[in-house]
Amino acid sequence: MKRYTVTAALPYANGPLHLGHMAGVYLPADIFVRFLRLKGEDALFICGSDEHGAAITLRAKKEGISPKEIVDKYHQLIQNSFQKFGITFDIYHRTSSELHHKVSSEFFLKLHENQAFIEQKSQQYFDDSFQQFLADRYITGTCPKCENPSAYGDQCEKCGSDLSPADLINPTSTLSGLSPILKETSHWYLPMNDHEAWLESWIQNGLLNDLQQHNPKEWRNQVIGQCMSWIKSGLKPRAMTRDLDWGVPVPLPNAEGKVLYVWLDAPIGYISATQAWAEKTGKDWRPYWKKTEGKDTKLVHFIGKDNIVFHAIIFPILLKTHGEYILPDNVPAYEFLNLEGDKFSTSRNWAVWLHEYIERYPTKTDELKYVLTSIAPESKDSEFTWADFQQRVNAELADILGNFVNRTLVLTHKYFEGVVPSPGDFSTEEDIILERLEEFEPKISELMHAYKIREAQQEMMQIARLGNKYLADEEPWKKVKSAPERVPTILYTALQITRELARMAQIFLPETANKIYGMLNLSGDSWQGPLARLQPGHTIRAAEILFEKITDEMVEAERQKLQPAENLTNTNFPPMKELISFEDFTKMDLRLGKVIAAKKMENADKLLVLTVHTGIDERTIVSGIAMHYTAEEIVGKSVVVLMNLAPRKIRGVESHGMLLMAENEEGKLSALVSERGFEEGPTIS
Ligand code: 2FM
Ligand code: ZN
Repeated sequence: MKRYTVTAALPYANGPLHLGHMAGVYLPADIFVRFLRLKGEDALFICGSDEHGAAITLRAKKEGISPKEIVDKYHQLIQNSFQKFGITFDIYHRTSSELHHKVSSEFFLKLHENQAFIEQKSQQYFDDSFQQFLADRYITGTCPKCENPSAYGDQCEKCGSDLSPADLINPTSTLSGLSPILKETSHWYLPMNDHEAWLESWIQNGLLNDLQQHNPKEWRNQVIGQCMSWIKSGLKPRAMTRDLDWGVPVPLPNAEGKVLYVWLDAPIGYISATQAWAEKTGKDWRPYWKKTEGKDTKLVHFIGKDNIVFHAIIFPILLKTHGEYILPDNVPAYEFLNLEGDKFSTSRNWAVWLHEYIERYPTKTDELKYVLTSIAPESKDSEFTWADFQQRVNAELADILGNFVNRTLVLTHKYFEGVVPSPGDFSTEEDIILERLEEFEPKISELMHAYKIREAQQEMMQIARLGNKYLADEEPWKKVKSAPERVPTILYTALQITRELARMAQIFLPETANKIYGMLNLSGDSWQGPLARLQPGHTIRAAEILFEKITDEMVEAERQKLQPAENLTNTNFPPMKELISFEDFTKMDLRLGKVIAAKKMENADKLLVLTVHTGIDERTIVSGIAMHYTAEEIVGKSVVVLMNLAPRKIRGVESHGMLLMAENEEGKLSALVSERGFEEGPTIS
């Protein structure tokens, strides 16, 4: 028996899961683990919510609630969806838990003790108005490599480059929309550059200290390719701490206000989740992670391609430097799934949400699993469309698999009252078929070990095709008249095919396999050794339909749901903020004013310093609209002014009030100019 620790990337608890997540991480990981379990291996399947980092705090800001409320909300939603979809984690943990804080702090301290980090002071971008340092997603700007104007401080999602805030052209704070200033801070850096030599040998050749750790031929080309390109272009020290108030506090003196970098604490989440599982079950977690107790354990990380560097470079550096842990045996990374010709996008609501699918089609989880595995983006990006979903379910699951099983069972009832008949002499064809049946399990196992799950599922479908063709060739419904002595042998053979089909379907289509086993009056089969045959005299149960056809109406309805972009439910617009009371509203003093002078703020791309005539005074307002109006354009415009906003110093200039602007879905602002020639001064009501 081999031991496996299988992890699936911890999803950020900042939104629901969509089909892209399922096709490219969780479903293949679950199929792999189901396979290992049936083979009798000791496989532990680990996942949980990733609850720290800017992904969470920025979402909290957007929804107007606290980070804790955000992670509680989405952790629950995600966990439920996984469970209802039949993803069989041994534990689904969370990184905001006390145990995780303890485990990751201790891990950090051990790294610190082993001199894994260099503490360094540097100048970093800071948002003066929010009094916050800006790392990762708190800062956007133009990517220096592909000129994408909305690259993040840690990564450009368009070209995939790894960035640091200093690389961005025209950096802008995502908090205030203003250009940041520079301020000194100090952090603990991981000198990744010191690890290039062993990483190269380990990734490319599987060697570590001259010992063979894994077979590099088993790693996907894209994974090795991406890692080698990183290493070849030179790894850089990367900060492992952040100035934030949400996360695992840095467990060192003089580290107030600092937390662990989310990409340091999240993968340690796999270890803390394993410990939580051990606590719950009374088992020992160490053999799943530690070199001493688990040196032969295979650690496998299922991830999306955007996570490669963190699992194949950074986490291995941390594990090795810590000293007590095994390194991954494989990092099967998936490319991306697109949807109806476009990228999945949460902000544009261009997604099929898993929890909604399950709610609408609670009895169709296997249909979705089948299609997602058929198009799994194993070696290149792939695409989900509802028409393709319909085609695969109807023409493959219903017409081939379902049809074969149904005919076999119905005919067994019709001709033999539901009892497996005794076969006569087998024809050559039947000898070949019964022999072939023994070849599927080794073939599928080989593909599974090579993480070719898509091909493995196709192989399972070959069993159904084989059965379908066999029945079509033999036509027992005709032979019952022309050669009745052949019918018992034909149905005996078809029933053995059905059983092997159910056995192989257990990993890909667990609900369907259960149904077939129910109909065969069996409870399941392991994958250890050859198939046990259904014995003559065994009674089966009634046949039921396995798959209903997907109607054109369903396809149409699903497509319709995907078209919110042009109508009023356009989610490009930020969601509505929390309700305020009428009293809150009446506190605002809104008036029409006229801009009588404007100039650009020095060294700030976004800011104009305006002089506004309000009817009762002339005041200075610093406004972040320089990307939308030039100083010349705004002068003379009538604008709505929030008069009684407390004055605030922006870049040394005191600003009195704020201009009200409207923003379209592209983020373009326009002044609310009065149309009817009101004089400046009147209160807006
Ligand atoms: O990319 C993501 O969604 C991350 N939350 C994955 C984390 S995987 C691991 F390191 F925990
Ligand atoms: Zn780019």
